[in-house]
Amino acid sequence: MIQSPSEVFGGPVQKTMKRLFAVTLILTIAFAYFIYIPLPSTVSEPWKLMILAGTFRGFMQMGTVAHTLGLTHHTDVLNLVASSFGLLGSESSENLRVSDTAFAGVEVRVFQSTLREAGELKRGVVYIHGGGWALGSARSGSYDCLCRKLAKDLDAVVVSVEYRLAPDVHFPVQYDDVLQASRHFLQPEVLAQYSVDPDRVAVSGDSAGGNLAAAVAQQVAIDDSIAIKFKVQALIYPVLQALDFNTPSYQESQNVPILYRTVMIQFWLEYLAADPEHLHALLLNNHTAQDQNQVASARAKVDWVRLLPPSVQKQYKPVVQPRGTPRILEEVPGLLDPRASPLLAERDVLVQVPQAYILTCEHDVLRDDGLMYGQRLQEAGVTVTHDHYEGGFHGCISFAFWPTYFSVGIQSMQNYIAWLDKNL
Ligand SMILES: *[C@@H]1O[C@H](CO)[C@@H](O)[C@H](O)[C@H]1NC(C)=O
Repeated sequence: MIQSPSEVFGGPVQKTMKRLFAVTLILTIAFAYFIYIPLPSTVSEPWKLMILAGTFRGFMQMGTVAHTLGLTHHTDVLNLVASSFGLLGSESSENLRVSDTAFAGVEVRVFQSTLREAGELKRGVVYIHGGGWALGSARSGSYDCLCRKLAKDLDAVVVSVEYRLAPDVHFPVQYDDVLQASRHFLQPEVLAQYSVDPDRVAVSGDSAGGNLAAAVAQQVAIDDSIAIKFKVQALIYPVLQALDFNTPSYQESQNVPILYRTVMIQFWLEYLAADPEHLHALLLNNHTAQDQNQVASARAKVDWVRLLPPSVQKQYKPVVQPRGTPRILEEVPGLLDPRASPLLAERDVLVQVPQAYILTCEHDVLRDDGLMYGQRLQEAGVTVTHDHYEGGFHGCISFAFWPTYFSVGIQSMQNYIAWLDKNL
């Protein structure tokens, strides 16, 4: 018997289709509900960012659950996920030699361009990956790709530092690892071994890596025992201070993925081996209240009413508590240490640091850290190039590679490399 089309579509097939449709609809709504977050209208590619943030949130929650159950530290879960997704081997490719080695006992991955003849001197870059001093790796997909591209595009030798991470180690270990690796690389015989021109070496990093790059650039500049200095420093949305978690950008972007204000403060507390309970006091700037006279000079170095242009300050008001929690600074002296907070360096240090490139994103709690440092460097007579992305969000340069492309990621990466090409 031949069934008429209406019989087919009114029959079991149609019922299955209807059910499938209903299930898909519910799942889609649930998915959209889970990942939907209000974002500023100017943020670049908002739906992509929401999916990325939703994925991060899922992993963070997995980490929190594991941590609460006492299984493992929450950052270990994130690192496990990140590494199972993509730690890359040190395979060499066309015109590029890649090798894992150690500089002064610190693991590094070295990317050497082999484009030109041996014997010709190349430029050098010390690169320091981000991840809140607790996450990430020179071997991870995005940083391995970025360093390969840097080495090829600049025909350079890139040293990506695999410094140790929290919670295994805390400040100043991360800083010391990067300093020791840099100091090793800057020796004349080591530079010669890699055919690197001693007059053309950069230090660079993003986020917490930008923090370490800025801090190490200061130390190398003032340390007379290091004869060869960095020519330039390139800081990508760097973390630079922990005294004010209510700068206009901390207030404005506190809920913008992927770096929420509370997450940034938690990274700081872990880095400085402080009690996680201080989060609540730090959110209120209780650690730098008015009655704490010992921070008066440090507070002046993060005085954003003076350091930031009015266009950025908008309607935001400084959050200064009349009375706070003084014991936090006693318990966590790292909060006032310029090796942890390069923005707190004295002017006589800043006058010696190399020419700087500072990349900031509009939708980033750390925007004003970068802007204030740029201003203080300029006041100290340092040449600063400031590259600002209106649609940018924190971490965008890591999303310029498969499987997460963002147009602002690709654009910022190209401009960053172009600046290095011109100035290094
Ligand atoms: C902040 O400091 C005030 C004044 O000492 C205190 O009453 C308040 O409990 C503190 N808040 C937090 C969250 O630590």
